[in-house]
Amino acid sequence: MIERKNDVGKVLVFGKNGQVGSQILYLLSAQGVCCQGADIEDIDLTDIDKIREFILSANSNWVINCAAHTAVDRAQSEEQLSHALNVAAPEAMANACAELGCGFIHYSTDYVFDGTSSKPYAEDDSVNPQSVYGKTKYAGERAVLSGLPSAIIFRTAWVYSKDGSNFVNTMLRLARERSEISVVDDQTGSPTLADDLARVTVNIIHKISTGDFEHQGGVFHVTGKGEITWFEFCKAIMRISNIDDVNIVPISTADYPTPAPRPGYSVLSNQKLTDVYAEEMPQWQDSLARCLSG
Ligand SMILES: NC(=O)c1ccc[n+]([C@@H]2O[C@H](COP(=O)([O-])OP(=O)(O)OC[C@H]3O[C@@H](n4cnc5c(N)ncnc54)[C@H](OP(=O)(O)O)[C@@H]3O)[C@@H](O)[C@H]2O)c1
Repeated sequence: MIERKNDVGKVLVFGKNGQVGSQILYLLSAQGVCCQGADIEDIDLTDIDKIREFILSANSNWVINCAAHTAVDRAQSEEQLSHALNVAAPEAMANACAELGCGFIHYSTDYVFDGTSSKPYAEDDSVNPQSVYGKTKYAGERAVLSGLPSAIIFRTAWVYSKDGSNFVNTMLRLARERSEISVVDDQTGSPTLADDLARVTVNIIHKISTGDFEHQGGVFHVTGKGEITWFEFCKAIMRISNIDDVNIVPISTADYPTPAPRPGYSVLSNQKLTDVYAEEMPQWQDSLARCLSG
């Protein structure tokens, strides 16, 4: 049962129809928290000049930005749009939140790293984004923190949800259409269920709002626990879904060229999240089973 809480005041969520935004709004509403969602039909975030007015008139205690240009390959040829949504819009949001004096939460990505590490990345490890998406998301982090140092930025990875457009649903669709699926086996990361990310986000705003935890801004890594390759992840999806008539074939990144380069290893250590906010993400296998059984 979800405990009803009202200590956070009002929350404005950009990206209300996205994987993470919709889950945050679902949780907040279930808790009885006053919340407002916004998507492109409410405000087109490429219209940067309108963002300040929108935030000031919403007059919320927290703003959570789940909107972004998330199409990693398309971003390679849509640099301007990517910059508008991933840098200029969050920068304008942070500045407006600073003016209003409200809290601001924003999301970034494991793709800020080049993937050459062999151990989980910490928040202060050197970044070296290889794609337009990674570069604009990193520039967005810098812009947000320079406008509002108390902003909280959650770097996450490999996000999926029951209904969103994501790897899990793509693999399930391909399994219905084909007898064989080739999946990259030399990229390692941590699948993250949007519901879990939403729960940690909402827990943290409650913890700060009640004064139980000191508000500490900056970058925090938040991903499902454990690590796996896309190939192994696909096999787990098939196993849990009882699909045994599709051949899953491991291939290399070189065999599956994409416009945007991906990091080979982008596992993120969540230690800081636990140390500062006493939050832990579930093991990815448990989250996947929960998602596919729901
Ligand atoms: N998905 C991943 O694997 C992943 C990995 C690492 C980090 N992240 C980060 O996590 C955050 C949430 O990701 P997600 O997977 O929830 O993203 P998502 O499902 O792609 O949702 C993005 C949202 O942004 C909205 N949006 C796009 N263009 C807009 C515009 N011009 N004006 C207003 N809204 C606009 C979309 O609206 P429409 O629905 O109308 O298009 C959608 O609601 C993002 O910051 C992302 O960079 C995601």
